[in-house]
Amino acid sequence: MSRPSPIVLIMAAGLGTRMKSEKAKVLHEIAGRPMIMWAIEAARGAGAGRVVAILGHQLDAVKAALDARYGVGAIDIALQAEQKGTGHAVLSALPALEREPDDRVVVILSGDAPLLRAERIAELTDACVASPAGMALLSTVPDRQMPYGRLVRDQVGKLLRIVEWPDALPAEREIKDTNAGFYAVRLGHLRQDLQTLRADNAKGELYLTDLVAKAAGRGGATSIDAPFEEVSGINDRVDLAAVDAAARRRINEAFMRAGVTMVSPATTFIDAEVGPIGKDVWLGPNVTLRGKTSLGDGARIDVGCVLTNVTVAVDAACKPYTVATDAQIGARAETGPFAHLRPKTQLDEDVKVGNFVEIKKSHLMAGAKASHLSYLGDASIGAKANIGAGTITCNYDGFAKHVTTIEAGAFIGSDSQLVAPVTVGRDAYVGSGTTVTKDVPRGALALSRVKQVNVEGWADRYREAQQRRKRDTGGSGH
Ligand code: UD1
Ligand code: MG
Repeated sequence: MSRPSPIVLIMAAGLGTRMKSEKAKVLHEIAGRPMIMWAIEAARGAGAGRVVAILGHQLDAVKAALDARYGVGAIDIALQAEQKGTGHAVLSALPALEREPDDRVVVILSGDAPLLRAERIAELTDACVASPAGMALLSTVPDRQMPYGRLVRDQVGKLLRIVEWPDALPAEREIKDTNAGFYAVRLGHLRQDLQTLRADNAKGELYLTDLVAKAAGRGGATSIDAPFEEVSGINDRVDLAAVDAAARRRINEAFMRAGVTMVSPATTFIDAEVGPIGKDVWLGPNVTLRGKTSLGDGARIDVGCVLTNVTVAVDAACKPYTVATDAQIGARAETGPFAHLRPKTQLDEDVKVGNFVEIKKSHLMAGAKASHLSYLGDASIGAKANIGAGTITCNYDGFAKHVTTIEAGAFIGSDSQLVAPVTVGRDAYVGSGTTVTKDVPRGALALSRVKQVNVEGWADRYREAQQRRKRDTGGSGH
């Protein structure tokens, strides 16, 4: 049996009051990715044909985030202007499905439950197709008391209905099997049954869960048990932290299984969009990888590095506390300890960037070195050039940024300033302590420091004079 491609609805119109936030709940991030996008990724992973997000609160902000990531209009939006319950939410999405045939499988997810796996959506879809009642749902047994709907069955286990927590009698609250809040229903049944919902319940809402009683009349909906951790939702920031930790554990385990060493998985923070990470990559404790960072085979990322949108090539080494953003690190290159690579830094192969070096919008070509205490901004640095300790590119005149060009093989002596725009030619030398304000021709030496003068015996005479003064004033002077 080939699996039909489901339509996936994501209920995400709720306010999320308990988040106590100015931001829509579903835009809060889990492992760096807004939580609604976890549901969308899972839906797509399960082969969803269409994805419809049901939005209400902060519709514009959520829509903008979806458009930015998936392209304008890639995710359909249904507006639920007033939130009158989950049944009402799905009703609001029906106009968007007007042209779809009755036999399509509709999977309904919650935008605030990001850990649901794509395989589970596929399982739900299959169960719906196999069910004579045309409905399947996920059940779960929480590890603690949760105010979830309870699954009420007859003596032979057929699902009769779901009773919501606020409506449940004490005996019903004892039922262990709860409703996880994920469903697959044939569109034809949705169209019919949603019209029959009534808000005659404790919350005065249209409960989507009342569809289960309708399915009982057709033989009963199928329930599939899912681990609580996979289906648990987010209501407040305590849940947010717990789900974030679970998501990161899942990410780390997948990378470790694929050949990545983590000295301390519990303190390794890898965002959802990170990858690929190559074989035999070594990650030290307290490493944070964010955004679209990727790591080539054999890369070594040591303690405390924070890499955001960084491409690290094979066998490169980020020594402890390298902080890099929007940067490229070439094969076998080394950075840090304590290096700061800012946006548009490009290090080619075998480049070495040492401690307390800050680089912005600069290209260091193969084998170039800046080993200590430098600021390189808006610079082009040729192959094998050597940047001495304390070199500063003076790239900013208070109004505009200017480019410094250091050609291949040039040697910049320690404590030099390069006042941009300026070019140091191929294989040229800049003497230590030089302020370079004019272009240096290929192969030349640039020197700008004042000539050294040695005054013979001066220090001895000075010291004697000071000691004499101290004696004369009775030792009270300094
Ligand atoms: C729901 C289920 C309950 C289940 C629980 C699991 C119903 C009636 N109850 O309860 O059986 O155990 O989830 O977590 O469905 N939403 C809208 N529009 C609305 C109302 C809700 O989009 O008008 C969205 C919310 O933003 C949320 C999701 O639907 O993403 C679930 O709604 P919520 O209010 O959290 O339902 P629960 O009371 O938790
Ligand atoms: Mg809920």
